[in-house]
Amino acid sequence: MLPTTEMLKLARVVFDEHTIRRRVQELGQEITAAYPSGDLLVLGLLKGSFIFLSDLVRRIDRPLQVDFLVAASYGSGTVSSGDVRLLYDPATQLEGRHILLVEDIVDTGKTINRLVELLRKRRPESLEICALLHKHVAPRLALEPRFVGFDAPPAFLVGYGLDHAENFRHLPHIASLT
Ligand code: IMP
Ligand code: MG
Repeated sequence: MLPTTEMLKLARVVFDEHTIRRRVQELGQEITAAYPSGDLLVLGLLKGSFIFLSDLVRRIDRPLQVDFLVAASYGSGTVSSGDVRLLYDPATQLEGRHILLVEDIVDTGKTINRLVELLRKRRPESLEICALLHKHVAPRLALEPRFVGFDAPPAFLVGYGLDHAENFRHLPHIASLT
């Protein structure tokens, strides 16, 4: 494998900072309009969603709360292992609240399928997904994301929260390593 500085030179910008900012603003407006009333909990899936979530909630113009889930599936590779482990489960009560699960990217759908199963057991008032990126390759999704930032190309993407072996999360744009 190439050293990370070498890999960065190979990267190609797929979504630039300005494009992301504009789309996140629109998503915030869509989400604001979709929840006219009720208690809204925005549940960010760490680590990948941390930048997206922090930009997104500032564009949602209604009362809300924020909590996080930590799930791990990829290890250091670029292929989903399908072994989704939940490392932190929110202590917050989910029953009776609108839950908006915020994901960085939907790839095989294994993460979403596992989380949807777990979260539905907590009997939320509603459960929706907001994904920054959607690869549209998942054979079956327990819940299709209601809010999607961008359709993603079939490449391994990094930046704006997305990593490769924990690198590149800090990039302000989204780049392709391949
Ligand atoms: P899934 O379970 O295969 O849908 O994978 C979802 C998780 O895998 C995401 O939350 C990401 O953390 C990671 N992932 C999937 N595709 C990519 C990618 O292109 N770049 C970086 N991470 C990815
Ligand atoms: Mg990851």
